[in-house]
Amino acid sequence: MQKVAMGKEGTIYSAPAMPVLLVGADVDGKPNFCTIAWSGVACAEPLMISVAIRHVRHTLKGIEQNGTFSINVPSIELVKQADYCGIYSGAKVDKVAACGFKIFYGKLASAPLIEQCPINIECAVHERLDLGTHVLVIGRVEETHASDTCLTDGKPDIEKINTFVYTSSPVKEYRAIGKPFAQAFSIGKEME
Ligand SMILES: Cc1cc2nc3c(=O)[nH]c(=O)nc-3n(C[C@H](O)[C@H](O)[C@H](O)COP(=O)(O)O)c2cc1C
Repeated sequence: MQKVAMGKEGTIYSAPAMPVLLVGADVDGKPNFCTIAWSGVACAEPLMISVAIRHVRHTLKGIEQNGTFSINVPSIELVKQADYCGIYSGAKVDKVAACGFKIFYGKLASAPLIEQCPINIECAVHERLDLGTHVLVIGRVEETHASDTCLTDGKPDIEKINTFVYTSSPVKEYRAIGKPFAQAFSIGKEME
């Protein structure tokens, strides 16, 4: 096997699959959502999640206005809405109306949450890093919500959440989550 030098190619990281999130913020007092694939858990205690957002995004304007945002995990039934929120800007369209989202607020007054999404996370901005094309927003998780239909023994259940991932290469598409094939933090012990 030979390695091929791929250069500074962004798809090299998004090709293997990324979660699809609907990041929300009140912009000029109105809820708006944009689709975000570039995200990650940044810290466990205190719990922090990072999202990379381009400067021009309408949603970023709202995050900066309020210092808060939400993360909503869609199920596959919401794939059209998730894609729509990643194509059109809230600067031009009312995405909440177009997508039929039912909005609720939790602990934070300015972090809009989507009722139809099985998982909702409320974040307060901990840090804002201007890295170039994108601003890395690190959110401190203030509260989380899960639809009761997506829990098994009180824990979020991937089968019931029924979310999907985004891959950018070789074609841009959404894929369902595959079947489990090994136990994590366990199968490696077979090598002892
Ligand atoms: C699958 C998918 C993933 C995306 N991931 C990101 C991302 O990680 N960061 C980003 O800034 N934009 C991302 N976008 C683009 C924004 O969601 C898009 O520009 C959106 O229209 C911005 O909406 P807004 O202007 O209302 O904030 C993604 C779009 C799609 C379809």
